[in-house]
This record gives sequence, structure tokens and C-alpha cells, in this order.
Amino acid sequence: MAADPVIEVDSLTKRYDKTTAVDGLSFTVTGGSVVGLLGANGSGKTTTMRMLLGLAAPTTGRATIGGRPYAAIPHPAREVGAVLDAAQFHPGRTGRNHLRVFAKAADVPKTRVDALLAQVDLEDAARKRVGKYSLGMRQRLALATALLGDPRVLVLDEPANGLDPHGIRWLRDFLRAQRDEGRTVLLSSHVLAEVAQVVDHVVVLAKGRLVAQGAVDEIAGTGTLEDAFLKLTGDTR
Ligand SMILES: Nc1ncnc2c1ncn2[C@@H]1O[C@H](COP(=O)(O)OP(=O)(O)OP(=O)(O)O)[C@@H](O)[C@H]1O
Ligand SMILES: [Mg+2]
Repeated sequence: MAADPVIEVDSLTKRYDKTTAVDGLSFTVTGGSVVGLLGANGSGKTTTMRMLLGLAAPTTGRATIGGRPYAAIPHPAREVGAVLDAAQFHPGRTGRNHLRVFAKAADVPKTRVDALLAQVDLEDAARKRVGKYSLGMRQRLALATALLGDPRVLVLDEPANGLDPHGIRWLRDFLRAQRDEGRTVLLSSHVLAEVAQVVDHVVVLAKGRLVAQGAVDEIAGTGTLEDAFLKLTGDTR
């Protein structure tokens, strides 16, 4: 049940020419939890998620969702929702049309589209072209797209990026709601403060390696959360 590992990353390594983007990384995400994958810019968060989603092949090691590599999941849209780059929309489509197109591709009834638009607070912008959306609106549309197939697992790369304080609060409420509905969420951030209030557990990367994992208060220890985070992630600027 709730304690089952849903996402398993096992000795995962990705090398590009001279760069080791991810270096022997292992961690698990248990069902029904929200886990933050944290690290400075370039620490390997996106690369880890890309391997988890079958968009990049590991050099060595394995990443699975529900016990299977992404490519072996029979109906991936129904199992995993992902947001890797919120900017990739056809600018001439309305938000509603975008979701309808993706609903069709994922074999999801189009009646779900309006419910999802409401869920991400885009009802008023549903008939507006995506090219005219603000960054926060695009982020929310990307979340709605990820939820189309009613997946049990969400993988979100920097969902708080570029959001204003209202947007960040909205995102936290959204994430809590996802957890309350029993979904498992892995999200990345390079700003601990954005996610500290909502994650159950953090996995901290520096230069592709795991440097710490645990509950947020364990990571903070007796000092401030920010100090602990900067120390762990090796920011010496
Ligand atoms: N396709 C690629 N080819 C070569 N190097 C890459 C490639 N993708 C990522 N890298 C390198 O791997 C390292 C990790 O990059 P990655 O994008 O995973 O970091 P990140 O933690 O997501 O950073 P950010 O917080 O800036 O999004 C970086 O040094 C990056 O330059
Ligand atoms: Mg990234």
C-alpha cells in the first residue's frame, strides 16, 4: 500500500562527453508521498527525470516507475503525468484546444478537459491562445496536461519556476491536493524554500551525486534550512 516504492532509481549514471550529469544515483519514492529532488543549477535533476521518463538512456543503472522502465509501461499517460518544459505549446491553440488535442492522443474522453481547466484555475483563459498566456498560466496548463490520463504518479521538473507568490501558494495547495488523492509526486527545484512546506522528503543532489536525503527537518538539523541546503549543494559563491 502506501509504503510501496513507486519510483525506484538504482545506481543511475548518465555521462555526456566530458560531463557526468548523474553519477551513481539511487533513491526511492514511496507511494502517496511528495518528494523534492533538490540541487543547484546543473546538478543533474532534469537529466534524472529525463531518464525516469525514457527521454534519455542511462549510461548505467536503472530508473523505474511501478517496477517498470517508462518505455515498458503499457498506458503511460494513465500511469505517469510529466511536466518537463512548460513552454512547449502550440502558441496559436487555445488552452482548451490544446487539452482536447492531447486528450485525443492519450485516448482520454474530451469531457475531462473542462474539469481539468477548472482544477488548474484556467476556466477564464480556456478560450485564449496559449501564445498569450503568462508563464504561470502555461505552468498550470502543463499540469492539466499531465493530469489528463488521471495518472497515479506525477514527475514535475521545476514546477515553481517563474511563479509569483500567489502562483507558488497555488502550486503548494495543488500538490497537497494531489497527495490527498493518493498520487505520488516527484518534483525538482533549485530553491528549497519553494517546496519545503509541501514535500514529505527531499533528495539532495550536488554534481550528479546524492549528498543527502530525508525529511526536511532532518536535512535542516539545528541551523536554518537555507544554510543546510547551500552547504549540501556546494554553493560557495
Ligand atoms: N544533452 C546534454 N549534453 C551534454 N551535457 C548535458 C546534456 N544535458 C545535461 N547536460 C549536462 O549535465 C549536467 C546536469 O544538467 P541538468 O540539466 O540535469 O541539471 P539540473 O539540475 O536540471 O539544472 P537546472 O537547475 O539548471 O535545471 C550539466 O552540467 C549539463 O550541462
Ligand atoms: Mg533542470
